[in-house]
This record gives sequence, structure tokens and C-alpha cells, in this order.
Amino acid sequence: MKKEIVVSGIRSTGSLHLGNYLGAMRNYARMQDDFTCFFFVADYHSLTTHPDPKDLRASVYRVIAENIASGLDPEKVTLYAQSDVPETTELYLLLNTLAYKGELEKVPTFKDKVRSQPDNVNAALLTYPVLMAADILIHKATQVPVGKDQEQHLEMARNFAHRFNSRYNETIFPEPYAFNFGEALIKVPGLDGSAKMSKSENGAGTIYLTDEDEVIRKKIMKAKTDSSPTEAHTPLPESIANLFQLLQLVSGAEAVAPYQTAWNETTIRFGDLKKELAEAMVQFVKPIREKALDLQQSPEAIQQILRTGAEKARASAAQTLEEARRAVGIRYY
Ligand code: TRP
Repeated sequence: MKKEIVVSGIRSTGSLHLGNYLGAMRNYARMQDDFTCFFFVADYHSLTTHPDPKDLRASVYRVIAENIASGLDPEKVTLYAQSDVPETTELYLLLNTLAYKGELEKVPTFKDKVRSQPDNVNAALLTYPVLMAADILIHKATQVPVGKDQEQHLEMARNFAHRFNSRYNETIFPEPYAFNFGEALIKVPGLDGSAKMSKSENGAGTIYLTDEDEVIRKKIMKAKTDSSPTEAHTPLPESIANLFQLLQLVSGAEAVAPYQTAWNETTIRFGDLKKELAEAMVQFVKPIREKALDLQQSPEAIQQILRTGAEKARASAAQTLEEARRAVGIRYY
């Protein structure tokens, strides 16, 4: 049976953190046997905010290394840089003829950018959802493992696919849907009491996959806690619930049970909880960090992975683009 096709783009700005790993990268690795997977570093997308040209290479290499360290096998999946597949940009142009200014201006992520960077509201920012649709449709993907914040973009990708098919009277593009593992999206809270670990906020609440053992220990020992309970069975405050949740994510529910009991009996010692969490986190992150660093020591290996990935991705993309060009009528000889 033909496997379903999966596409996802990985942003290349900023270091990846535990939330990215548990929420996205680990899931990519779980999909690689059952689906035909295309994963790419979204380097064109990152250009909308004008990064320093000198930094691009290192961040692309880092993202590739961190994803392989998280379990992606470049022999099983197609791992590539978005800018290595010019077919995507050509499809982007074709789709742009079907995307309307009004609908693009209404996209919440665009409106956020208009607010946060009023001096750089460029056209690429406006058409970001069209490029994202091209990323997906160029491989005829039906499954896209992304978080909730990307739902709107996916809906637009479905609209563009549908519009293209009906305009040209051919079913070239299937409609892509968000993929999740049938489990509730896991919650990875910050160490600073925030509900979600994120890279944009201050680094202290976030465990990065590049953090050294001592840095991890320090961040966890400084994590926000509440005052100790004075009455049995007090409901858990957010900060303690967050530490429990993190411990559960790295060590399993069994590890949390004794602390929950101690909390209920008002005998909990936050120092013990933090020490256990810190050691568990160190053990959890260490192999990923070390493997990623190791890989970055051999740029030739990463270049080879990118080259092979680009070749495989272009072979798939060229077929789709050929069909799209033919449908549009731009085939003259
Ligand atoms: N927009 C996605 C994000 O911000 C990244 C992305 C770009 C993507 N192209 C994609 C995700 C195609 C899935 C499929 O995280």
C-alpha cells in the first residue's frame, strides 16, 4: 500500500528547546516508518525578518543536527533545505495568483507581525501562508504535523489546493490536514510559571537542547515554586503543577506519585523535587545535545545529508510542478 505523504517545515531561528522536542521533533521521528516524510528547514521563511547572512549557514546546520539527534533518520526521511527546491518557489508564484490580499491581511500571524515589526511589513510576510501552502502541496502531502498555531495556515493551504483544482478542472492537489497522534497535544510548561515553554521569552524558564548539565541544574533549582501547603489536599498551584508535569514528561508518572502524596500530606520538600527533576532532565537532554554537537563537528556530513535530501525532494517536487504547469497552460514545446 502506498504510504501517506507528510510534510513539515522547521523554523531555523533560535535554538530548539524541550517544548519543540516533545511537541514536534519526537513526533517526526515516530512517523518516519509509517509515512513518506519530507522535513525541511524553513530558511526562506526566516528571510522575512532579515537575518544576518553570516548566521544562516550555522543555524541551518544546527537545525539539521538537532533533528537528527532527536531521532530523525535521513535514510528514512527526506531532510532538506527549503531553498534547495526551486520548484517550491515556482509553485508559490502560481498559487499567488489565487491568493487574495484581503484574506492574507486577515491572518492572525500576519496581524501580529504588523504590530510587532511595523517598519518591516514586507510582501513576503503577507504571502507567508502561500509559501507554506506551496511547501506542502509541492509533495502532495495530506498530513502535516504542526501545532495549533498553524491551523489557520493549513486551512488556507486547503483553500488554495481546492481553488487550483477547480480553476483548472483537474484534481492535482489533495487537501492537507493537521496530523496529531490521537492524543491530546502534550503540554510542556516553562520553569518560570508560564503555561508554555517558548523560545521568545526569557531563557531562564526554558530548557534548550544545547544547555550544558550545569545550566540545566541551575535553571531548575531556580524554577518558580509556591509556598508549601499548610493544609492537606490543597489544590496544586500552577508553578508546582508545572514541575510535576515536567517530571512526568522526562521520568514518567511513577516518578511524580510520591511527590503528589507528599504534597497532599503537606510534607513535600521542593528541594528534593527540584534535585530529582534536575538530574532526570540532565540525563534526558545530554544524549541529544552531545549527538547534535558531534554532528556539527563534521560539516561535510551535514552537507552530504542536505545534498541527498535536496535531490530526493526535487525529484518529488518536479513531478508535481510539471502537472501544475501543464494544468495552467505554461508548456509551449
Ligand atoms: N509556519 C511553520 C511554523 O511557523 C513552519 C512551516 C513553514 C511549515 N512551512 C511549513 C510547517 C509547511 C508545516 C508545513 O512553525
